[in-house]
Amino acid sequence: SSSKLLIKGGTVVNAHHQHLADVYVENGIIVTVQPNIMVEDDVYVIDATGKFVMPGGIDPHAHLAMDAVDIVTVDDFFSGQAAALAGGTTMHIDFVIPVNGNLTAGLEAYENKAKKSCMDYGFHMAVTKWDESVSRDMEIMVKEKGINSFKFFMTYKGFFMVNDELLLQGFKKCKSLGALAMVHAENGDAVDAGQQKMIELGITGPEGHPLSRPAALEGEATSRAIRLADFVNTPLYVVHVMSIDAMEEIAKARKSGQRVIGEPIASGLALDDSWLWHPDFVTAAKYLMSPPIRSKGHDKALQAALATGVLQLVGTDHCAWNSTQKTRGIDDFRKIPNGVNGIEERMHLVWDIMVESGQISVTDYVRLTSTECARIFNIYPRKGAILPGSDADIIILNPNSSFEISAKSHHSRSDTNVYEGRKGKGKIEVTISRGRVVWENNELKVTPGTGKYIEMPPYSYLFDGLDKKDAIYLNSLQAPVKRAKSTT
Ligand code: URP
Ligand code: ZN
Ligand code: ZN
Ligand code: ZN
Repeated sequence: SSSKLLIKGGTVVNAHHQHLADVYVENGIIVTVQPNIMVEDDVYVIDATGKFVMPGGIDPHAHLAMDAVDIVTVDDFFSGQAAALAGGTTMHIDFVIPVNGNLTAGLEAYENKAKKSCMDYGFHMAVTKWDESVSRDMEIMVKEKGINSFKFFMTYKGFFMVNDELLLQGFKKCKSLGALAMVHAENGDAVDAGQQKMIELGITGPEGHPLSRPAALEGEATSRAIRLADFVNTPLYVVHVMSIDAMEEIAKARKSGQRVIGEPIASGLALDDSWLWHPDFVTAAKYLMSPPIRSKGHDKALQAALATGVLQLVGTDHCAWNSTQKTRGIDDFRKIPNGVNGIEERMHLVWDIMVESGQISVTDYVRLTSTECARIFNIYPRKGAILPGSDADIIILNPNSSFEISAKSHHSRSDTNVYEGRKGKGKIEVTISRGRVVWENNELKVTPGTGKYIEMPPYSYLFDGLDKKDAIYLNSLQAPVKRAKSTT
């Protein structure tokens, strides 16, 4: 398509403001946003009358081409991103998994996987062990590689789980680098005990998964991570908040002024765990992820928390497996690969669940699907805004059209979809990725290798004034008490 593009007559929505305006794009960058822009004949014009023109979605949480011992997720950086674009997401942040704990080797592997990208992307980095080389590599990641966030797993015992000592060291290092600490919050020792108990009871099916790791274990780990982050005085980002228990810990900390971010994901907002009791193994297993999708009630509470600002942005944790891969755990739920799809569905689901239902405004929709993510990871307003100078990552949503989700029509390589049959109002009709029209008339036009790596600088707004808080704390400490030398 043309390198010059005009979107005419739509309602342009940013997180702070919406108004009727045209958007003119040249060479992948937004040049002008104002009513009645006049252009030459060589400009490709899209009519957006009656529709919303919004920043493309940014998914803060997805796993493309992720290895799990002997298998790899079905969606790689090309198919997963193609699916994302068809669903109105124009950037995702993936999690680099270290190789035997080595961050540099992990990054190299992910840089290779990402070569086939068809949309922009960034990286978080997982930290799974602690030594001098990990500490040094964290510094290299932040100062040279454009990574400003590190994820610590408090579960997956025997694989990625870290103890409190490592958590404290990692948080301290994050703070010194201006990087954001992220946690997967579940008590891994208790989960391990819970799983053994299920197996002893003969509960080997997918329902053993939620039974073995109840919401209380997510609440406990969330509380512990929050208190340790406060002890270190560094901001904390809790990924995939799935329960009321975890959400309430975040609410309490934020109310007291602590810098804690909570990320619900599409599956937690849209589903409940009843599927895991389905008599057909594959049907049940496809809903298995960690932390588990919770019982009815948690979904509505997470929606309300999102609407009221207790939680700040929505991810997906897209980690797609096919039926054959899920069947690996037919005799033992512990062997079922964890993860559900969502990178293609998130934007439609959040529109349907949050906007159509009247829980949030359209500007709020933009904030929690795009802008807040860009702010937290320090790439705003290059991303997350329709402003002159921003990257032209743009979607057009028709509020009067409707979407329908099915594995038969989705763009993921998985043969199943956890949202199978779901319908709703509000359809993303056009997706523009850095000025290229990649989704229009239900057709994808994507090319591997066109996506760019987005470097994310340290010290996001979450760090503003943190040093003052440290100084106040140090000043509040009393000098050591002077005692006479012992005479005994
Ligand atoms: O079940 C999940 N969430 N799989 C992906 C890895 C993770 O913990 O985010
Ligand atoms: Zn305006
Ligand atoms: Zn996780
Ligand atoms: Zn994840």
